Amino acid sequence: MDKILDSLKTLACKPLAQATAMPKGIYVSPEIHQREKDNIFYRDWICAGRADEIPNIGDYLTFDLCDQPLLLVRGSDNVIHARANVCLHRMMRLATGSGHTKKFTCPYHAWTYNIDGKLIAAAYMDRTTCFDRHNMQLPEIRCEIFHGWIYVTMNKEAVPIENLLVDLVPIIQPYHMEHYVTIFRHQHIWQTNWKHLTENFMEGYHLPVAHKNTVGAHFGLMDTTFDDRGSFDNFTYQTFTKSGTAPVGSAHPDNKTLQGKARFTSIMPTIFPTHMYVLAPDHLWYLSLQPMGVDRVSILYGAAIAPEVLAAQNDVDDYIAKTRAFLDDVQEEDRFVVENIFKGAQAPLSTSGPLSWLERENHEFTQYLARRLCSGR
Ligand code: FES
Ligand SMILES: [Fe+2]
Repeated sequence: MDKILDSLKTLACKPLAQATAMPKGIYVSPEIHQREKDNIFYRDWICAGRADEIPNIGDYLTFDLCDQPLLLVRGSDNVIHARANVCLHRMMRLATGSGHTKKFTCPYHAWTYNIDGKLIAAAYMDRTTCFDRHNMQLPEIRCEIFHGWIYVTMNKEAVPIENLLVDLVPIIQPYHMEHYVTIFRHQHIWQTNWKHLTENFMEGYHLPVAHKNTVGAHFGLMDTTFDDRGSFDNFTYQTFTKSGTAPVGSAHPDNKTLQGKARFTSIMPTIFPTHMYVLAPDHLWYLSLQPMGVDRVSILYGAAIAPEVLAAQNDVDDYIAKTRAFLDDVQEEDRFVVENIFKGAQAPLSTSGPLSWLERENHEFTQYLARRLCSGR
């Protein structure tokens, strides 16, 4: 592990013009993965979905933060809370999927919790002298809402997400994505290391090639722009402007807030480590990654539509089905790429090659990982 981290640190200090992709050991080492859990996933803010998915008291979502299953619930105070999704009896996972409920009953011995995480019933425990139901509450972790996104962290000391992403706010604010309406949330598992997927999503270099049949068709690489303020510690992004012929990605005539070129411009932020989205004037779609070891990643994948676009549809269900089918095709194109890169990273003769200027964000991700993984050694 030390050798890999030394290479990562050396690479992170290089300017982009002299940078390569990360040392391949970083994608396949179990020791690195354990260090990622300790230094990244249990310390940084992780996106668990969108707040509009759970608008009512008693609505809930589930999300695994590496080895920690979480329950995101809109509590009786009408605020979203994140708690351990693990029973206080013999550690069974309490809930799966999402839905609406008045209580959570453990599927093992039926210990029952209210939506605020308090144990309210446990049968046949009357002879257990060390048991007092009134003291039992599911552990809670921090949960904050940022422009419609739910972020959670196990780190009590973490800087509030609003402060961490303050430099992103002027870029995303004009889109008012907090008002976009979520149309689906889906979870699937790919055979790859999570970092291949983060790196894949953040760069547009592959779009005209790997996505030539979908999102790459109306994409001009020379229209890519990066922030001329420089790079940021906790996120990166690029923008790209769609041509007027693109079927999606432009502001609807009823959108009166975006002006000029912004009406055709999309933003592609990556919030380190694992939250990526494409924010267009008419829709957004996102990924939030949940690593399941070095070789598997569970992907939370969803989309949301600008309200004026949804309101203009004659057949909303058909529109949603078509949008979903299109984005599923894009996902499938990415799955092919990132599963095969992971195979390449394990090949004896493979090496990490030099980056293009279009992969500026990949180098910024390298630098973020170096800050997190190489510190304290
Ligand atoms: S593990 Fe939940 S009730 Fe026994
Ligand atoms: Fe892609």
